[in-house]
Amino acid sequence: MSAILFATVGHLHGKRRMIVLDTAFPKLKLKNKLLLPIVQGGMGVGVSAHRLAGTVASLGALGTISSVDLRRHHPDLMAQTEKTRNKELINAANLIALDREIKAAKAMAEGRGMVAVNVMRAVAEYAAYVRQSCESGADAIVVGAGLPMDLPELTSEYPDVALIPILSDARGIALILKKWMRRKRLPDAIVIENPQYAAGHLGAAGLDSVNDPHFAFSVVLEGTLALFKELGIESEKIPLITAGGIHSPEQVRELFALGASAVQLGTPFAVSEEGDAHMTFKKVLTGARPEDIVTFMSCAGLPARAVKTQWLANYLDKEAKLQRKAGPKDCTVGFDCLHQCGLRDGIAKAGQFCIDTQLGFALEGDVKRGLFFRGSEPLPFGSAIRPVRELIDYLLNGISPATHGTLGA
Ligand SMILES: Cc1cc2nc3c(=O)[nH]c(=O)nc-3n(C[C@H](O)[C@H](O)[C@H](O)COP(=O)(O)O)c2cc1C
Repeated sequence: MSAILFATVGHLHGKRRMIVLDTAFPKLKLKNKLLLPIVQGGMGVGVSAHRLAGTVASLGALGTISSVDLRRHHPDLMAQTEKTRNKELINAANLIALDREIKAAKAMAEGRGMVAVNVMRAVAEYAAYVRQSCESGADAIVVGAGLPMDLPELTSEYPDVALIPILSDARGIALILKKWMRRKRLPDAIVIENPQYAAGHLGAAGLDSVNDPHFAFSVVLEGTLALFKELGIESEKIPLITAGGIHSPEQVRELFALGASAVQLGTPFAVSEEGDAHMTFKKVLTGARPEDIVTFMSCAGLPARAVKTQWLANYLDKEAKLQRKAGPKDCTVGFDCLHQCGLRDGIAKAGQFCIDTQLGFALEGDVKRGLFFRGSEPLPFGSAIRPVRELIDYLLNGISPATHGTLGA
């Protein structure tokens, strides 16, 4: 039976035929809503904004807007803030942009799926982004790059907003569960992200531990289910969402068999037709060979994975020298986006570059100056840039674009 159901929705300009996806996999249950068990991971800066997250949600899955520096998608807000070094002005513009993006994604979703906002714990405006997301109507808050110990308090006035921490091992999960349980709150789901494969910032202490076997999905899923038992939590209460390197329906089946309730993907969504970054950004990611993908220390003090483009290769050549000379200085762009920044705070073991500037260049498709985050594994459709609908249908139902007769050359 075809996994695609046809439904007629919307009455704005007459009736519109809309493709709703379905699957034989169990649905992901979040806050009493049943979703397709696919999560599109949050991707900054601007790589997952309303178009990507809204499309994913409109198909019945969980789409995620990345909250970082969204003013970059709004020319009026950029015009007001591009040349300023006034942090308050930049932060205010970003909250306006976040509000616009959430509302636009929710409008696209028309009540289907869920729209989440990803907020990195390591970002200085973390609490303000979380509050704005709740006020603007986000269905879920997803927090990575640090332990969101205070998330239940920050969102206490919004009990209907799902809270989803991103962690990489059972130890981190135990810390969050024990802390939140004291506040009588449980996560509504947990994303388990494997630093061996994922893109962007990685949840490992340093570069030498990124490939540690204790991060393997089988180990973390087993450890987490044992932890739930120890803490008296029914395993169905907190769905586990695995992330990092997932690119085939076979992997999805295996992960479900190991106890996952959904899978999160980043890179494959970043390169989808609806991904919010420039087409050149997508081509850099799809065109990267395995030997082009590297891990290095970010200025956030975490290991990160990206494509070794011209800027990154030059930076890595000079890294040791820059680290030897590291010393505290004012933020180079006056934005102070991170709680702790290797460049601004002169932390020698962290990266010595401005991450917001480099990620901003990548978003615009500036191959020479951009920093292009990418996961380590092959992509579901190779170098082809395909619609989100086809990606989800492939992962959940094994239906490849070739079967639809639409795969381009
Ligand atoms: C371009 C890009 C930017 C990302 N930015 C973020 C981010 O801001 N916050 C976050 O929690 N994860 C971020 N991620 C990680 C993804 O949300 C996702 O968990 C991860 O990429 C999964 O691995 P995969 O890319 O192999 O599918 C980013 C990934 C990519 C590709």
